[in-house]
Amino acid sequence: MALPRIRILATGGTIAGETCPGGDITRYRAGVRPVEALLTAVPELGALATLDAEQILSLDSKDMTPDDWLCMLSAACQALADPAIDGLVLLHGTDTLEESAYFLHLALPTGKPVVLTGAMRPADHPEADGPANLLAAVKLAASAEGVGKGVLVVMNGKPHGARHVRKARTSGLDAFESDPDWTTARPDGRFASLARAPLPRVDILPGYAGAPAKLIDACVADGAQGLVLALSGHGSVPSAWEPSLRRAREHGVAILRASRCAGPVIRNANADDDREGWLTAGDLPPPKARVALMLALAAGWDSATRQTCLPTF
Ligand code: SIN
Repeated sequence: MALPRIRILATGGTIAGETCPGGDITRYRAGVRPVEALLTAVPELGALATLDAEQILSLDSKDMTPDDWLCMLSAACQALADPAIDGLVLLHGTDTLEESAYFLHLALPTGKPVVLTGAMRPADHPEADGPANLLAAVKLAASAEGVGKGVLVVMNGKPHGARHVRKARTSGLDAFESDPDWTTARPDGRFASLARAPLPRVDILPGYAGAPAKLIDACVADGAQGLVLALSGHGSVPSAWEPSLRRAREHGVAILRASRCAGPVIRNANADDDREGWLTAGDLPPPKARVALMLALAAGWDSATRQTCLPTF
């Protein structure tokens, strides 16, 4: 029987990282090693799938921008539209992996498996985790288990759904977690027809003791079309912010209440969202709520419809 054909799209990250000359293993450069070298280091891949690979970016994912998301989306759409390709694996830095995974989860057509993976240790680490993660990702992308769950992430031998995965720890092989786990994951793809629409600017503003309202005015003056408020507790808006938020709404800027806590932020609880015209993030953390809002704005959804791309609880 023919092996499944899997396309690998490489974007950089620690999985492609190399230790700086003379440095210790905590000092390395991400996104250096080309994808061909990463595949050659894992000869077991040949027994799982027929692979072809494309280096689409070479970044440390802290530097990833929405334009880079569109670049990934375009390469992923092209691969998935190819009838010869059975599944897709994206190699990505771990720092913003959950944002890219959620963006692709909402924006890619559903059907074929799409799996993101990365590594917590650079490729030249004596106990690099990249090879095992790559093997696990290709295995999942080539299997029936990877179908019907939307975009998945594999790290440290564990699959996660894009909706709930997060990098919960700065270091350690078990840095990623998801709750609920991936067995509950469902496909989404509600923005799949948007493939190449430009993404509007949406900023995240943290709420903290004494956070100045001027930051809101500055973001609006600088062109933000949406603001995600990463607030304390139940998404509690500081009183001092209210005049600036009302001015922002008058300028047509979308305002979304999210929380620094694990959620949920419930609509019209603790704030009059209907009266103010605010959106609420449900249990989406601020970076993922931002992704959903950017896509809703890009799709031209009106303010009443925007809430439908966010959990309401
Ligand atoms: C990155 O996110 O590109 C660097 C960190 C990592 O991949 O773990």
